[in-house]
Amino acid sequence: MSIDRTRRAALGVIAGAAGLAVLPHAALAQAKKVKIGLMLPYTGTYAQLGTAITNGFKLYIEETGGRLGGMDAEYATVDDESAPPKAVENMNRLVRRDNVDVVVGTVHSGVALAMANVARQTGTTLIIPNAGADDITGSLCAPNIFRTSFTNWQPGYGTGKMMADRRIRTAVTLTWKYAAGDESVNGFKEAFTAGGGKVLKEMTLPFPNVEFQPFLTEIAALKPESVYVFFAGAGAAKFVKDYYAAGLKGIPLYGSGFLTDGVTDSIQDVAQGLTTVLHYGDGIDNPKNKAFRSSYEAKFKLAPDVYAVQGYDAAQLLAAGLSAVNGDLAKKDAMYKAMEAAKIDSPRGPFTLSKAHNPVQDMYIRELKGRDNVVTGIAVKALADPARGCKAA
Ligand code: PHB
Repeated sequence: MSIDRTRRAALGVIAGAAGLAVLPHAALAQAKKVKIGLMLPYTGTYAQLGTAITNGFKLYIEETGGRLGGMDAEYATVDDESAPPKAVENMNRLVRRDNVDVVVGTVHSGVALAMANVARQTGTTLIIPNAGADDITGSLCAPNIFRTSFTNWQPGYGTGKMMADRRIRTAVTLTWKYAAGDESVNGFKEAFTAGGGKVLKEMTLPFPNVEFQPFLTEIAALKPESVYVFFAGAGAAKFVKDYYAAGLKGIPLYGSGFLTDGVTDSIQDVAQGLTTVLHYGDGIDNPKNKAFRSSYEAKFKLAPDVYAVQGYDAAQLLAAGLSAVNGDLAKKDAMYKAMEAAKIDSPRGPFTLSKAHNPVQDMYIRELKGRDNVVTGIAVKALADPARGCKAA
């Protein structure tokens, strides 16, 4: 077995201090750590999402005894505030100052695009546990960048397909004006119009504004058969409450499932039956989901959501890579190969990655019943993002 530089340095220090010529293997293994940079939002409209991802990630590591590929996990954490202008500096802090081995982040597509650029320049391993920016596993795809969540296109496309299948003819769209909103609406339009639907008007407001009233007034005037939106986190909860308070119940509201995930406690009184499409649902009936939900609830006194699942799966993917190389972080090619080939036993159901490193996964139809996003069907089976522009993979 070859001993890499880090190990040799650790060996020298410890052997010197202990006055030993040879260090036992177990002690050598103990000296090794994998340093994980968590770059996520812990403040702002996506704060709860960042916390759920962190919880899910750490839950898996705890289940494996705090170790990954035989190494102790150590963390450096940054609150990225979902602020794209601060993204490069925050990412550089983790990569260049804290010298992390891998970065796990983030939620916001604009921040994640900047992180992907730094990862491409520095060769840092990046695992994205939420942000759906299509380009990250499209034109910016790279051997060292992986995602355990979705592309913005995927749930948008799934929702458009379900709505067209239900013979809904017209829709108005509303979202925040940034990559996630734009791409979610594009995915929606692609499937909805292919199925015969017509988009009457596309409306946007800046992220993370929540002054929805003028848009609700316009929807009432346009009288579409349906409304499609992308909102998430605290902004989604406010939108849903405002929508029904404006008396729009007669115009069915649809959205990618981020509209209801993680916010069911605050919308359950007004939004029973709200139908969305996503790659996760609370009641998915498989042993992994049951075990995951009960240990998450026991540990955090909270119901898990899609964000927690994506964080948990980011840890599973990293574990698959590190175990394959016995924790030898220098063997990046072999590590990436193992990650590419991994079959992740996810609470959402097992999934594999596409060539561009994005999950190929079912898009579930879910209905809000009580506090749960209950799965009532499947909009699209094993949906792969088209990975437009990906050449490197
Ligand atoms: C994104 O910015 O890509 C994003 C944010 C929150 C979500 C989904 C996507 O729930």
